[in-house]
Amino acid sequence: MKKSRSIAVVALSLLMGTQLISAQTHNIAVDVKKPGAPIQKTMYGIFFEDINFGADGGLYAEMVKNRSFEFPQNLLGWTTFGKVEVKNDGLFSNNPHYVRLSYPGHDEKRTGLDNEGFFGFGLKKDADYRFSVWARTAAGNATESIRIEFIDPSSAILATQNIIIDSKEWKKYQVIIKSATQEPKGRLRIFMSSKGSLDLEHVSVFPVDTWKGHENGLRKDLAQALYDLKPGVFRFPGGCIVEGTDLETRYQWKNSVGPVENRKLNENRWEYTFPHRFFPDYYQSYGMGFYEFFLLSEEIGAEPLPVISCGLACQFQNHDHKAHVEVCDLETYVQDALDLIEFANGDVNTKWGKLRADMGHPASFQLKLIAVGNEQWGSLYPERLEPFLKAIRAKHPEIKVIGSSGPSPDGKDFEYGWNEMKRLKADLVDEHYYKDPAWFLANAKRYDNYDRKGPKVFAGEYACHPNNRKNNFESALSEAAFMTGFERNADIVQMCTYAPLFAHVDGWQWRPDLIWFDNMRSVRSANYYVQQLYGHNVGTNVLTTVENKAPLAGQDGLYASSALDKTKNEIILKIANTSDVAKTVNYSFKGLKAAERNATHTILKSVDQDMENTLDQPNAIVPVTQQIKVTGSSLEVELAPKSFNLYVIKL
Ligand code: AHR
Repeated sequence: MKKSRSIAVVALSLLMGTQLISAQTHNIAVDVKKPGAPIQKTMYGIFFEDINFGADGGLYAEMVKNRSFEFPQNLLGWTTFGKVEVKNDGLFSNNPHYVRLSYPGHDEKRTGLDNEGFFGFGLKKDADYRFSVWARTAAGNATESIRIEFIDPSSAILATQNIIIDSKEWKKYQVIIKSATQEPKGRLRIFMSSKGSLDLEHVSVFPVDTWKGHENGLRKDLAQALYDLKPGVFRFPGGCIVEGTDLETRYQWKNSVGPVENRKLNENRWEYTFPHRFFPDYYQSYGMGFYEFFLLSEEIGAEPLPVISCGLACQFQNHDHKAHVEVCDLETYVQDALDLIEFANGDVNTKWGKLRADMGHPASFQLKLIAVGNEQWGSLYPERLEPFLKAIRAKHPEIKVIGSSGPSPDGKDFEYGWNEMKRLKADLVDEHYYKDPAWFLANAKRYDNYDRKGPKVFAGEYACHPNNRKNNFESALSEAAFMTGFERNADIVQMCTYAPLFAHVDGWQWRPDLIWFDNMRSVRSANYYVQQLYGHNVGTNVLTTVENKAPLAGQDGLYASSALDKTKNEIILKIANTSDVAKTVNYSFKGLKAAERNATHTILKSVDQDMENTLDQPNAIVPVTQQIKVTGSSLEVELAPKSFNLYVIKL
């Protein structure tokens, strides 16, 4: 465009109050007949960690806090009245505590206990809740009874049910309670309504309407939000909680499987990591454990990717480097990895395969990936990774092993880590980066010159952190722009997972996060929609620019990638305009016969860069799609300022 014309366009735009259009037209030419590197189905995934009350109090739909009375303060989360004692010779060896309720000595007095839930019980009007409890009579009476109530903050009763306890042996009792009204901050109250003595253990309340109706299930809206991302891979269960502050508190997957009543409680390091976001009642019940993670992977169509401890406790929290297992003592850790593969894939006649079958899934979970260690650095790590690699390679050559490059995307430790991963021939290397918008934009070319001969890249944790740490549009657009670099380099970048996934508005420690929720509602951030647009439009092959002309990766604020989907027969164009003015881009498709084709244009934009979706305004920033026609073998698009655009052309 000539200067005089561009001035005229700008002047006209100003006069008409419309957006400014940049003078320059950018040209992108791709050869549709020459698909480039395959894009892995695992490319865009999710990473779950129990941070921000993501599991207990979040995705895991259990509503009772400290249901087994195993928190170090056994009655944390409970308020007792009358005669209540904590005892510790119960039925479940890993969770031996329970409460004994006894007649208070006068008919006008009461014995019982209240549970506060996770920031309250979020009760929906007319919804059914499954209350269950293990109980027994304890005073020689043939029967005892309890009354279950949901109450509101003023103690008004919202629902009530009775249970008769009719055995002196431990037995599970269950009843469905319907809440009469909506109450976001409800409580559970249990009254003893007989005159003897009785024992209660593992007190549980779940909504009946969980994800896929599973008992011991997941919160439906939150699991649905994961499904709606179409994730290719699901990394779990962390993050730092895999490592533990000390080795005793590392995540041990074996404690997270089998009957829920007997899964051993663990502390959650996010309880105390940030003193200004301190939550003394944050523990891991493991009610959502490895079986549930594998099942969820299957149900949302993602490859499971478990992360296991490599024998190093969190290196951030152990500067003296004392909290690790000696290499010669790693045997149980390595065996845990092998047993995990057996749990996921093993025949039902094997020890761990049988447990999986007993839990309800005789078929293999088709595990193909495992990560050893989370964010590890220095020589302690490769020394420990090596025995895992040897053992896994020897017994399960079909499993890909992912190694770590530490917590930073560059620097001495990062370089050392990568070199060691190359030496050890890890299949993929996990990179983590939480950086500001400028870094994300400047690093869109990060992978263009990576060594193609070594391990592949897994961007296992990343998120753009603006100064105010909000999930604002600026951060989402920066991620969208940066991710074009993942796609352009799909020959080396094989997986990426944003982090963290969930945050409870009343209980978060870390932000930004992909999905926010309270006890009643959830909201998908602008960043979520970026992930979703990528996840739904992966493509099968990269389309590179004709004659390797430099891709758009920051020139004039534009970031682009192109893909072909051979299965769906589509061209997929992603392009972010991070500048303040509209931009014109001309795509030409070599090898495409001129014809009229149906296409869609989806745009994600916000005039206010600090805008974010909230529980009260969940749709402030959402993608908008319109049908368009593409005629001929080219497409000229006008990109709104500060927008992420997706064009899908049906071939
Ligand atoms: O995603 C939050 C934390 O960030 C993860 O637990 C850890 O791996 C990283 O430091």
